[in-house]
Amino acid sequence: MAANWDKTVWRRHERVQMPDYPDPEALTAVEARLRRMPPLVFAGEVRQLRDELARVAAGKAFLLQGGDCAESFAEFSADGIRDTFRVLLQMAVVLTYSAKCPVVKVGRMAGQFAKPRSAPTEQIGDLVLPSYRGDIVNDIAPTEAARRPDPERMLQAYTQAASALNLLRAFSQGGYADIHRVHSWTLGFTDADDAARYRDLANRISDALDFMQAAGVNGDRLDSLATVDFYTSHEALLLEYEEALARVDSTSGLPVAGSGHMLWIGDRTREPDGAHVAFCRGVSNPIGIKCGPSLAPDALKRLLSLLNPGNEAGRIVLIARFGAGKVGDHLPRLIRAAQEEGAQVVWSCDPMHGNTIKAANGYKTRAFDAILREVQEFFQVHNAEGSYPGGIHVEMTGKDVTECTGGVRAVSDDDLSDRYHTACDPRLNASQALELAFLVAEELAGRVAPRRAAL
Ligand code: PEP
Ligand code: CO
Repeated sequence: MAANWDKTVWRRHERVQMPDYPDPEALTAVEARLRRMPPLVFAGEVRQLRDELARVAAGKAFLLQGGDCAESFAEFSADGIRDTFRVLLQMAVVLTYSAKCPVVKVGRMAGQFAKPRSAPTEQIGDLVLPSYRGDIVNDIAPTEAARRPDPERMLQAYTQAASALNLLRAFSQGGYADIHRVHSWTLGFTDADDAARYRDLANRISDALDFMQAAGVNGDRLDSLATVDFYTSHEALLLEYEEALARVDSTSGLPVAGSGHMLWIGDRTREPDGAHVAFCRGVSNPIGIKCGPSLAPDALKRLLSLLNPGNEAGRIVLIARFGAGKVGDHLPRLIRAAQEEGAQVVWSCDPMHGNTIKAANGYKTRAFDAILREVQEFFQVHNAEGSYPGGIHVEMTGKDVTECTGGVRAVSDDDLSDRYHTACDPRLNASQALELAFLVAEELAGRVAPRRAAL
């Protein structure tokens, strides 16, 4: 455990991007109730994810992390969870098969409720209102009352996360994720080019499975293809919630966040002396750090020594998010800083948050081309620096939304209003997510030596 740490230590550090609850007693009562709830994830699973991420850090696997920008109470449904899970499985299959690389699958799901904002207030018509900070904090409706932070929302977020996780556990262990069903995951988009490309790959996988069966290959190895390991993650932003769900791992004696398997620290809350770093230091979960243009090499070194003093592989995921055209300006100096420290880290690419723009019609969007370009630049820089590009971090959904422009189905600015459902940032739809996976697989296959993959 980090020295001088307990789960309340963050309260003595500067807090940013957190709500001021108007009723402290109501907050205390909610915290007490949350402390009595079971953790959502278990310490053994967290340790297993760390082991898997250690393999990514060593260049032997690839991290796929994706899901909503902000999960919402109103949009919550079993179908929504299934569809996002299905697209993540498809992306993983594309990467595993094409790049011959095992994939660690982590959802931005079952806890991704709290949002940092660029300003504390926003203007809607004539009204200046407190900003929406995610459903765990306040309501998106544009009224003063709706925007008031309400601690009861933490309990609703906990309950929603618990039922989402219950379903995800059933999907990943109960037959849905069986690789023999690789064809059935296409349901929902069977007409266009992107589907044909996926179907072709699914055919090749089915052939390989048939061959193995005919050749008498069976036993544990083949049985393990019937299930997947799937993990959850979210930004550790609302620290009252995180503290209340922190537990002690009875096996290791170490504190562990019980709210999700992996947590990350956002680009706006990664101040080394701030409250968010102070909390994350002491929990043993894998920790992501968003690395945007303002992160200086010395600050990165400081964060690494605070958050991973023992330099353990599998603990730190550095999530680069600079924007297309800017990766070459910022990423090399950070890679070198990590190399100078001999730091064992996973480097992942978030090609979403540096590429958000406002379309002429006012919609917040992202151009799919810019997203692809940032991923390509990320690979180029790592290849040039002799470092391993170990993952991608994307905002995506299994629903057929029109939030990012471009892709094989060519969403235009005019289409944005058709199916724009996000509670926060624009997400890739299923087709765009799959197209991105094919591109990443090509980049990855171009650089790693073929190896035996575990699906
Ligand atoms: C996010 O991941 O939704 C987010 C707000 O990212 P960042 O902290 O990188 O801006
Ligand atoms: Co976002």
